[in-house]
Amino acid sequence: MKKFDVIAIGELNVDVILNHIDGEPEVGKEKFAKEMNLTLGSSTAIFAANIACLGSRTGFVGMIGQDTFGDLIETSLSDKGVDTSMIIKSNKYSSGATICMNYRENRANITYQGAMDFMRFSDINKDIFGLTKHIHLSSVFMQSGIKKDLLEILKYARDSSVTTSLDTQWDPAERWDLEYEKILPYLNVFLPNETELKLITQSHTLDEAVQKIQSLIDICVIKRGRSGSLLLQKNRGLTPLNAFLNNNVIDAIGAGDSFNAGFIHAFVNGETAENAQITGNLTGAINTTAAGGTGAFTSKEAVKDIARKRFNRPLKI
Ligand SMILES: Nc1ncnc2c1ncn2[C@@H]1O[C@H](COP(=O)(O)OP(=O)(O)O)[C@@H](O)[C@H]1O
Ligand SMILES: [Mg+2]
Repeated sequence: MKKFDVIAIGELNVDVILNHIDGEPEVGKEKFAKEMNLTLGSSTAIFAANIACLGSRTGFVGMIGQDTFGDLIETSLSDKGVDTSMIIKSNKYSSGATICMNYRENRANITYQGAMDFMRFSDINKDIFGLTKHIHLSSVFMQSGIKKDLLEILKYARDSSVTTSLDTQWDPAERWDLEYEKILPYLNVFLPNETELKLITQSHTLDEAVQKIQSLIDICVIKRGRSGSLLLQKNRGLTPLNAFLNNNVIDAIGAGDSFNAGFIHAFVNGETAENAQITGNLTGAINTTAAGGTGAFTSKEAVKDIARKRFNRPLKI
């Protein structure tokens, strides 16, 4: 019996969120914000917190600094039920931070990557492959060290009979230089959104992108916001699934990460890809009923309650 169902390898940072700002930032001037929140940021952290909430035994591998932001990251994750004992504390780099300036529906973000950008496969204790059933990797464009070592990590996992999933997330540098032809054959579940998939595969249309990856993947789920998701399996057709529509969205921050949490929770429990897709669509929708990426995920019972009351569906977890 392994200690963990899932270990997430990903970026860790704090968010300094500024609201009600008097105008836009200008070099040489100083302005007031009327509200500030300092919280755990990072989309991989949202994934880890929410899959732990669904009942998966979850650990996190990431790199932070030996600083107060690092302490906040560790405490917040552990409050969400995520094991933080594998987090690496660098004595060279400081923890990452994002300054988020909110302007109604829009936001201007500036991220200092810090330690997350320097973690390499060589920093990770190989014992983790014996401790978990599944490894989820995310936000590789924000972690240049992990991006370089991605293929090696996936091969190591396959040799250790550990299943894997990947959500690349957005590339802030917009280079989209992922060697997907080499990576995808070593992956069990690929979890891009539609825009990211087209950019990674340099395709003009979704059809073109699907054609390019069809023979390379095992399972791929393409996330499409309010339009739900498309399931693609090797040598099979596409299975579209409408979203469980929420017409009263509080915000969609982390919807994709919550989709991943639902899908991977079901996958690791041996559910079919079709059932995992239903769970993912439902946890993505549940995410949009409360503020932020983890607001709706307070307990397994609370999440099941939202599924029943708001979406009229049982959440089978
Ligand atoms: N307004 C919405 N109502 C219901 N479900 C939604 C809504 N927005 C997103 N979802 C669900 O969450 C999933 C992930 O959201 P999406 O925005 O596509 O991901 P990403 O954040 O990775 O771009 C979607 O596939 C969908 O099932
Ligand atoms: Mg996403």
